[in-house]
Amino acid sequence: MSLRLAVLASGRGSNFAALLQACAAGHIHGSVVGVFSDKPQSGAMALAAEAGVHAWAMKPNTFETRDAFDAAMFDAIDAVQPDLIVCAGYMRIIGAAAIARFPNRMINIHPSLLPRHPGLHTHQRALEAGDAEHGASVHVVIPELDAGPVLAQVRVPVHDGDTAETLAARVLAREHPLLLASVAAVAGGALRLDADAIRWQGAPLREPLRLGDDDRLHAAP
Ligand code: GRF
Repeated sequence: MSLRLAVLASGRGSNFAALLQACAAGHIHGSVVGVFSDKPQSGAMALAAEAGVHAWAMKPNTFETRDAFDAAMFDAIDAVQPDLIVCAGYMRIIGAAAIARFPNRMINIHPSLLPRHPGLHTHQRALEAGDAEHGASVHVVIPELDAGPVLAQVRVPVHDGDTAETLAARVLAREHPLLLASVAAVAGGALRLDADAIRWQGAPLREPLRLGDDDRLHAAP
């Protein structure tokens, strides 16, 4: 079965672009069946138009409430019948009612080694905390922000003299392969988001998988 992916994005869309390429190249056994956004003018939306991907974007302030925006967007998501929803730089908090419509089917890429630094400005906060290591995490979306079970992580070193920008660039370069490997593993069945547990190669996952230098996921040592 080819995995039907819905992508949520608010910004430049480099993770979305990486997903599109990986599907086209056959590295992910699936396809992006729709991209959804709270930012009609975003880079991600421009990319969707260029690539001919079905897109839905509305400004949240044209809705009466947060839940009304979510309901409209998740109706549109529902209409494309996704197997997996990937939040790839989607910067708006999603309400619990919308999340409950797709239990165990929604993942997010977050630029830190969760549970460290949930929320915004993760690179600056890693520097301020004096972290020797930083990275990115792919996790299941639950109503609590950036707090769902972590599927996989990639680690990068923090260097002397790093700024939030240099560190962000180092993380982003590894975020893409992390997201692609995670989605490919779901598409291929090695990684399963079951209701009772997350399973890696049939066994419940106890610790997040790690992305190796070979760009593959490995069980934590
Ligand atoms: C990524 O760092 C993602 O982890 C974060 O926002 C950034 C989005 O980048 N939440 P892009 O829009 O995919 O280029």
